[in-house]
Amino acid sequence: MTTSAIAASGLRKAYKDKVVLDGIDLDVPAGTVFSLLGPNGAGKTTTVNVLTTLMRADGGTARVAGHDVVTEARAVRAAIGVTGQFAAVDELLTGRENLQLMADLHRVPGDGGKRIVAELLERFDLMESAQQPASTYSGGMRRKLDLAMTLVGNPRIIFLDEPTTGLDPRSRRTMWSIIRDLVAEGVTIFLTTQYLEEADQLADRIAVLDQGRLVAQGTPDELKRQIPGTHVRLRFTTAAELDAAARVLADSKRDDEALVLRLPSDGGTTSLRALLDRLDEYSISAEGFSVHTPDLDDVFLALTGHTTEVVAK
Ligand SMILES: Nc1ncnc2c1ncn2[C@@H]1O[C@H](COP(=O)(O)OP(=O)(O)OP(=O)(O)O)[C@@H](O)[C@H]1O
Ligand SMILES: [Mg+2]
Repeated sequence: MTTSAIAASGLRKAYKDKVVLDGIDLDVPAGTVFSLLGPNGAGKTTTVNVLTTLMRADGGTARVAGHDVVTEARAVRAAIGVTGQFAAVDELLTGRENLQLMADLHRVPGDGGKRIVAELLERFDLMESAQQPASTYSGGMRRKLDLAMTLVGNPRIIFLDEPTTGLDPRSRRTMWSIIRDLVAEGVTIFLTTQYLEEADQLADRIAVLDQGRLVAQGTPDELKRQIPGTHVRLRFTTAAELDAAARVLADSKRDDEALVLRLPSDGGTTSLRALLDRLDEYSISAEGFSVHTPDLDDVFLALTGHTTEVVAK
């Protein structure tokens, strides 16, 4: 039997008459990565706040590290680390001082604290800027420092609220690799994100949150089976060209209004070349050509029948 690091049942939360969480059930086995995927305003931060005892739900129950988040909040807090959506670093302090402050708060005795701080600076590649005030850090450095601060207490369950939003692709990859290392050490990760790719890369299980309800839960593969895969989009200038292309390309789906043809494809050069050759053979030219990998919008369209924009309001 696997033990649950996080288990919630029927969580509800409303702000005045606006329902934000409408009965959330979830279960995260210890040592796994769970990703809550959803657009702006879906209720991700609210869920994190409830599970981390920062906010009280109106209904339902949740246990984290085996403790009830309401009646045993102190025990929950002792077991978890939280890296919020907005970095909690003190701008006026240097990177090293921010970490030392956390070590002091955790009452790590004397040299132990210094050692942990040095290890974390090294691990997060922040040694060089350790003496600079955090106000001079880039967004990516700030996020890394923020996560490093969360790790000072060596928590076994970590909540990361959109850890990579706003980061460039390289910083995002660095963050992913740090998260993977934590998982390898047996840490349980609860991660919120707006990026399907991120959830796909990191998570053992994904739950899709839409207007306070979980509209799907499963492994990344289970989820992806429900949405259109990678495909090529060909855009034409006239309906006649679209017709001609649709005739020679089997498996294609047409969007008459946008004059677009979609074809399933692995996006590899061989299949793309074959596709272009086939168009050439019939002297058909497309005005535009793009390879599209599924994103959050595809997930939402497939699972809810609407795009993320409806939710973002
Ligand atoms: N303190 C509050 N008072 C009133 N409404 C709130 C409050 N906090 C959040 N909300 C509303 O609850 C809904 C969910 O907010 P939440 O912050 O949980 O979303 P999110 O999924 O984290 O979004 P984002 O991706 O933008 O961080 C939003 O519609 C938001 O406006
Ligand atoms: Mg949020």
